[in-house]
Amino acid sequence: MIDTKIYKIDPNNMDTNLLDEAAKILKEGGLVAFATETVYGLGADASNKEASNKIYKAKGRPSDNPLIVHISKKEDVQKIAYVSHKDAKALMDKFWPGPMTLILKKKDIIPFDTTGGLDTVAVRMPDHKVALELIKRSGCFVAAPSANTSGRPSPTKAAHVIEDMTGRVDAIVDSGDVNIGIESTIIDLTVETPMILRPGFITNDMIKEIIDDVITDPALLDNSKGEFVPKAPGMKYKHYAPKADLTMFKGDIKKVIDKINVLAFEAKEQGKKVGIIATSETKDAYECGEVLVIGDRIDEKSIAANIYSVLRDFDLKEVDVIYSETFYSRGLGEAIMNRLTKAAGYKVEEV
Ligand code: TXA
Ligand code: MG
Repeated sequence: MIDTKIYKIDPNNMDTNLLDEAAKILKEGGLVAFATETVYGLGADASNKEASNKIYKAKGRPSDNPLIVHISKKEDVQKIAYVSHKDAKALMDKFWPGPMTLILKKKDIIPFDTTGGLDTVAVRMPDHKVALELIKRSGCFVAAPSANTSGRPSPTKAAHVIEDMTGRVDAIVDSGDVNIGIESTIIDLTVETPMILRPGFITNDMIKEIIDDVITDPALLDNSKGEFVPKAPGMKYKHYAPKADLTMFKGDIKKVIDKINVLAFEAKEQGKKVGIIATSETKDAYECGEVLVIGDRIDEKSIAANIYSVLRDFDLKEVDVIYSETFYSRGLGEAIMNRLTKAAGYKVEEV
């Protein structure tokens, strides 16, 4: 057990002494969890293989699942990767700092331990004052996966990180709730036509406004039968999963509500504790079960922000089954439905 320090650092009034203490831990090869605009990350010096290996151990993460390397200045990308793709500059200029991760050929400074044995590296410049200042003060390139135990929902609140990582990391920087709530969009630039390997806040349409073309890894589109191997190793794991069995229902929202009400009643009769993922517009239509509001149907950002905390809340409530509405799957909805259908193990029923 490591004695985990908790540093509260307010992004709008940063305590530079605490930042320097946290930065020193990173510099010396330790583990520091910190907020980014997407989810909390679990950071270590990306050029130090012992430090990277500590991340895998703390998370219980399979060693073939590579880490994202975070930088605090755009030009630092050249120090860790070869930036040769014709679209790289336009994407970095538009979306960095921000929720976009680029896959590039790695340079030797990044060990294979950080990249899960691959000769490519994932790079991102986060849009969060504390994250940027911490990375800058550490003088490191900071490898940081989401700061959850492997397989659990990603952390969007400091309390989630404290729950998963206390005793496993040197420090947790508490900067309050994250803003976006789902992980960055990953774009592979080692191929001719840029390919989205993980949908996120930056959508296909936003990318197409900047560059000629972008395609999506076919494994993300319909892989319920598991016939494609996703190009991002992490996308093949059963991620984001709550402890209870989650099923989603698709179709006319009134029919979805009726179906969930019938099933919730039946499950209750069988002595099961039922959870329902509802929206502010629909919550009053459910007749039994623990109803949690994931956000407003008309505001996808509010749904993205709450996905992981709702899944974690159902773990705390120890429900046996969860029934959920589905959402429009274009734009930001693509990332929302990607995360939720994975959490449901692809159980999506038409009503
Ligand atoms: O928003 C985010 O990206 C957050 C914050 C903390 O920055 N980080 C995050 O990291 O989501 P993680 O480790 O939970 O997810 C990283 C994903 C995994 O699916 C991994 O397989 C993929 O990125 N990845 C990393 N390096 C890669 C590479 N060289 N080639 C393909 N996929 C890669
Ligand atoms: Mg993760």
